[in-house]
Amino acid sequence: MSDEAWFDQFIQLGAGGATRYGAAMQACTAQLTTLFERVTGPYSGLDPAELLRRLHAVDFSATSVRPLDDVLEEVSRDIASHAIVVQHPNCIAHLHTPPLVSSLAAERFIAAQNLSMDSWDQSGAATFVEQKVVGHLCGLFGYPDGADGVFTSGGTQSNIMALLMARDWFLWERYQYRVQFNGLGAFAERLRIVASAKSHFTVDKAASVMGLGEKAVVKVPVLDDGSMDANQLDAIVDQLLADGLIAFALVGTAGTTDHGAIDDLGRLAAVARRHGMWFHVDGAYGSALILGEERHRLAGLEQSDSLTVDFHKMWFQAVSCGTLLLREGTRFRHLLYKSEYLNRDTDDLPNLVDKTLSTTRRFDALKVYVMLRAVGTEVLGRMVDHLLRQTRKVADLVRLHSGFELLAPPRLSTLLFRYVGHAAGGDMDAFNRRLRAHLLTSGQAVLGETTIAGRAALKLTLLNPCLLMDDFDRLLSMIADAAERLD
Ligand SMILES: Cc1ncc(COP(=O)(O)O)c(C=O)c1O
Repeated sequence: MSDEAWFDQFIQLGAGGATRYGAAMQACTAQLTTLFERVTGPYSGLDPAELLRRLHAVDFSATSVRPLDDVLEEVSRDIASHAIVVQHPNCIAHLHTPPLVSSLAAERFIAAQNLSMDSWDQSGAATFVEQKVVGHLCGLFGYPDGADGVFTSGGTQSNIMALLMARDWFLWERYQYRVQFNGLGAFAERLRIVASAKSHFTVDKAASVMGLGEKAVVKVPVLDDGSMDANQLDAIVDQLLADGLIAFALVGTAGTTDHGAIDDLGRLAAVARRHGMWFHVDGAYGSALILGEERHRLAGLEQSDSLTVDFHKMWFQAVSCGTLLLREGTRFRHLLYKSEYLNRDTDDLPNLVDKTLSTTRRFDALKVYVMLRAVGTEVLGRMVDHLLRQTRKVADLVRLHSGFELLAPPRLSTLLFRYVGHAAGGDMDAFNRRLRAHLLTSGQAVLGETTIAGRAALKLTLLNPCLLMDDFDRLLSMIADAAERLD
């Protein structure tokens, strides 16, 4: 082996070549194990201004190589110790799960092999694994033969890709117009996406990225539970068409971010079919129901043209891990670009870049493969069922607590509530916002904050199947105590 200094910075092949890598991984594991053993809150409580000052003071101008162990110690002490602890019982704000240990193990392979999924000659077996996992998922969600999918960085990318293909497919099928080549042309002003008022903001973002503008998203009002008022849908689409507009896509949400509401997917599918629209389901959150006893709530999803699934939400995977499935896999052709250096027409082996907006892309499918092999859908389904049941029980705790008001019955694993005790005074909105910020920066609890029917709300998002009811008893008491002591 050469004695050049940088050789040490890489894994070398052959006997002993990965020794330094092994030692570095062990050092990381040791640092993290200590951190997890000692952690006392979901955030250290260090004043964020002081944290910013310290991190800005870090000097990147070093000219000599430093021992990695020293840097890892620094990372653990100065960064990891002041990061949000997703495993902590009081870290319960977002659709942000503690990852399965099997997912972290898969991450080791993903990182060390550093494969890229754009072409077979950068991935080998990994391409076939992604195809195998995608095929399994298509079957799980009831898609027919010919369905296909691709892994994405998450719900945002999946939603954007789905709506982009919906637009290009629609204009091709209806007008034999190729947006990929021609741009939007005269269609720019007339294209519309129909979605509920509680659909995820990435639907608006997709419209903006696609050059349609947010105005292109027509919002159907929602019922009290946060799901689309499907009774109004037909009339809204009819009106768009009567106005000479082109309603090319209907978005149903299986699990809205705040309420966890699931649209009536069967009814939406029928409306989309009637008008020849592309029916996309954003199942970033609620798709995991397919694993458990409440899968019937997703009825109609199997009729969708595309489906967003986020494994880094209620499928307990390390960030990032998502997929976009298409009922008719051939429609991925609307994302197809050929390049002489990467995915030639003459290639016999598959190049998954053909189906996605990304080029270089992680082998996240391995995490799902390992989860399916090591944990299995039966246990995963029980975890999901447990979270849904537990959320209903926690809602009962909130209802019984005189200091809190439950703002909506839970639909999935979120709870919308607010502090209404005497300490709140006159301006409950401002008080609840201040309370959340105080709990976060003091390191006591990481709660969600949103607005429900114009009122500031606190939100719990249950995604940690290891929590016990005692954890929630303690959390609610702690929030009430903190509210009473807030200046
Ligand atoms: C319903 C819904 N769709 C899409 C997204 C975006 O997903 P991601 O954060 O994985 O990009 C989210 C994120 O919370 C979501 O709740």
